[in-house]
Formats: sequence, structure tokens, C-alpha cells
Amino acid sequence: IADIKGGHDEGLNRVGQTLVVMGWVRTLRVQSSVTFLEVNDGSSLSNMQCVMNSDAEGYDQVESGLISTGASIWVQGTLVASQGSKQKVELKVEKVVLVGKSDPSYPIQKKRVSREFLRTKAHLRPRTNTFGAVARVRNALAYATHKFFQENGFVWISSPIITASDCEGAGEQFCVTTLIPSSREAADSPVTAIPNTKDGLIDWSQDFFGKPAFLTVSGQLNAETYATALTDVYTFGPTFRAENSNTSRHLAEFWMIEPELAFADLDDDMACATAYLQYVVRHVLDNCKEDMEFFNTWIEKGVIDRMNDVAEKDFVQMTYTDAIELLLEANKKFEFPVKWGCDLQSEHERYITEQAFNGCPEIKAFYMRENDDGKTVAAMDMLVPRVGELIGGSQREERLDYLENRLDELKLSKESYWWYLDLRRYGSVPHAGFGLGFERLVQFATGVENIRDAIPFPRTPGSAEF
Ligand code: 4AD
Ligand code: MG
Repeated sequence: IADIKGGHDEGLNRVGQTLVVMGWVRTLRVQSSVTFLEVNDGSSLSNMQCVMNSDAEGYDQVESGLISTGASIWVQGTLVASQGSKQKVELKVEKVVLVGKSDPSYPIQKKRVSREFLRTKAHLRPRTNTFGAVARVRNALAYATHKFFQENGFVWISSPIITASDCEGAGEQFCVTTLIPSSREAADSPVTAIPNTKDGLIDWSQDFFGKPAFLTVSGQLNAETYATALTDVYTFGPTFRAENSNTSRHLAEFWMIEPELAFADLDDDMACATAYLQYVVRHVLDNCKEDMEFFNTWIEKGVIDRMNDVAEKDFVQMTYTDAIELLLEANKKFEFPVKWGCDLQSEHERYITEQAFNGCPEIKAFYMRENDDGKTVAAMDMLVPRVGELIGGSQREERLDYLENRLDELKLSKESYWWYLDLRRYGSVPHAGFGLGFERLVQFATGVENIRDAIPFPRTPGSAEF
């Protein structure tokens, strides 16, 4: 449908052609002499208006109610100029075939249903305008991400999902356990038998074949190993955080984009983050016009202006100390009081991005490179309006002795990071990178307020249905 209606003349140059449309019935209006079916195939927001007279083949299925909202159909007809004002062309139906009927209980009958309600119908919500548009923009952002890095000589690395190390050292990890059926009988029994662990059917071991293992919180450490061999690399994959927070910006499972640059410092890192963000934002503005207009009208007025600002304007760079000073000078009553050394909370980020402007770092992880002052690190966050922290990055500590001291200070085991320390033992180089939360980028680009609406199947505390 996008192919037919997406051009400048909205399909007029194809008038007279015989076409087949396959999709799902959005609405159906039966009038005395003619029936209108709005069909959508997900290629764009546009429906194909299919106009049917009683002499069309298959009309009886419409008349009997077999073809109803939510049903999938195959329609053949001639494209004609439309009488209506809503579209330039419509399909004059010659034949309709019901592919799959829709039970009358179909939950998305009404034009507008709340996003909260749709979260409980995650399997059907892509059939709505909002979620179809979010899915297409998310796809465009993923495509532009690969395009940007590939065009700039980066190599894509798949980092592991199961790992023994905790990149952020925050202990917010999900543990991997192994389910080992202890007998043939158990192996053959359906999965529903698993809770019966006590009767000896299943042996729950608290680990990954005898060793502790977790779901990764970040692919950074693995990316560093490849950056110190291939120079510029990036990861793009799922990451997991066991933080028990129910906010509109946190998921237990989210996708992260993590470039890592060798022979690079924090300035190079910030330049890369800025160029990347401007590139993907421009790509979406240029390639998702119809969806962006939709968001601008229905989701967040001004989202297009906000995106244009990011694509065109310079980012404000600010040191941590200056950000703290700015917050202190604001003389505002924050829920979390501000003082030098504290981690910035979302209320502070919002103040900086929405009332002051942009950019600043957070509490230091073990791998961040110590600055000459001995008390700060070469780290940065990129903050954007509406979302707050979109990117966190740093120059990595490439000096073996500094890194070992830092691990000791934080009581992290040097033994388990032996391979990471090896990178500093054999041909170490200054290097830097960042991580961008992909769902926060989708939120930023579409204006959807809740991060649960920026990913097809959100995983938050207590919700892993679908
Ligand atoms: O700031 P974070 O924790 O940094 C890292 O993980 C580094 N290892 C990245 C690197 O330098 N390679 O996370 C990076 C970004 C955040 O800025 C945020 O956008 C996103 O990941 N993020 C989350 N997104 C959704 N849900 C969560 N629970 C998130 N936690 C972090
Ligand atoms: Mg961070």
C-alpha cells in the first residue's frame, strides 16, 4: 500500500491498474448500495480504501459479517481516482477473499484505545497506527545505526549475552541457572512439569554448568577486546539490568549500541556520539516523514522541531563541576539534594536539558580513565530533552597499574578480570567508547512517553508475558 500511495501524486499515476492488496481490515462501513473497507498492510499509516458493490465476487462474505474488523483479506480490483477527500485513489473491488476471519471479541475495534490498555495486548498492538509507526521508526533507527558505523569503517561485533563479568560493577545482574533434567522421563515431560522440583524430576543448579554466569549488562568489555585489535568496532544487541525500578525510562531488557574507538580520547568519543546521533535523526526525518507527522500531531506536538534542533544545532558541552554549580545556582528544591560528588538524578537531568540545556557525567565505573586531578574521570553523558540520559561514555583506563589499583579500591577481583587486564599488558592503547540505550532513542524520536511503548515486548519487573 505504501508503494501505491506513498509517491508524490499519492497513487494517481497508477489509476487504471489492476492490483492485489493483502492486509487486515481496519474498518468496514456497509451502506445501502456500496461497502467501504479500509485495509492496512503495515507498510505505512495509509489504508487502502476498498469500495465494493454487491456484484463483486465474495461480497456475500461481507454481507454475512464473515469479513469483519481485524480479519485478514485478499482483495483484487482496479485503482480509480477517489470521490472522497481523504485519499486520491481507492480500489474498486472485483474480488475479495477472506484469508482469516476475526472473532467478534477482537479487542482493537475502537478508533482510539489507551496505550496502557494496549500494553496488555502486546501481541495485537502493532496493528494500531501508533505502534505500527513506532515499529517502522525503530527499524529506520536500527538501519541508520548500521549504516552510520559501516560508512565510517567500524566493524560490528556480537558481544555475548551470557557472561561472568559485571561491566558496570553495580551488581544489577540477572543470574543464569541451568535446568538439567535428571532423567530421560523428565526430559520428555512437558515444560509445565518444571515447578515440581522437589520430587526429583528436575535438578535446579544455581549456575551455568557449575560456574556462575549472568545476563550481560553491557557489551563494552568485549567490545574493548576487539577495538584493541580492529581499531573501531561497535556492538548492537540486547542487554539486561536487574534494577527493580518502575520508571518510564527503565527496562529490564533493552538494546544498546556500544561503539569503541582505539587511539581515541574523550573528545573523539564525544565527537563520534554527536555525529552518530545527528546522522540517525536526520535519516528518520528524511525517510519516515508520514510517521513523524503522525507523532507530531498525535503523540508530541513539536517532536519534529526537537529532532531538527538535534540534527542541526551544536551540543552544549559542560563539565560535571559546572553542571553541579548550575544546579546549585538554580536554587531549586530538588527531591535529591545536589552536592559535588553525587550522581545526577533524572530531576537534575531534566532541569539541565529542559531549563538550562545539555551534557554532563555521572559516578565513575572502574574502567573510566582517571584525570590528572586524581579525583575526576574522563567520562561523559549525553542528556537530551524529554529522555534525560541518552548516552553514557568514557575514555577507558588503559594504564595497567591505575586499573589494578582501581579494581582493588572497589574490591573487585583482579583474577576474574584477568583477560581485561591483559589488554593493558599487551599493546595497550588509549581508547574510548559509549553506550546508547536504543529504546530511549526511540522515545526521543517518536515522543512516546513511556519506554514500554518503544520496544515490541517490554520486560519490566514482573512482566514477561508474550
Ligand atoms: O550509562 P550506562 O550504564 O553505561 C554503560 O553501560 C557503559 N558500559 C556504556 C559504554 O560506555 N559502552 O548505560 C548506557 C545507556 C544509558 O545512557 C541509557 O541510555 C541506557 O544505556 N540504559 C537503559 N535503557 C533502558 N533501561 C535501562 N534500565 C537502562 N540502563 C541504561
Ligand atoms: Mg549511565
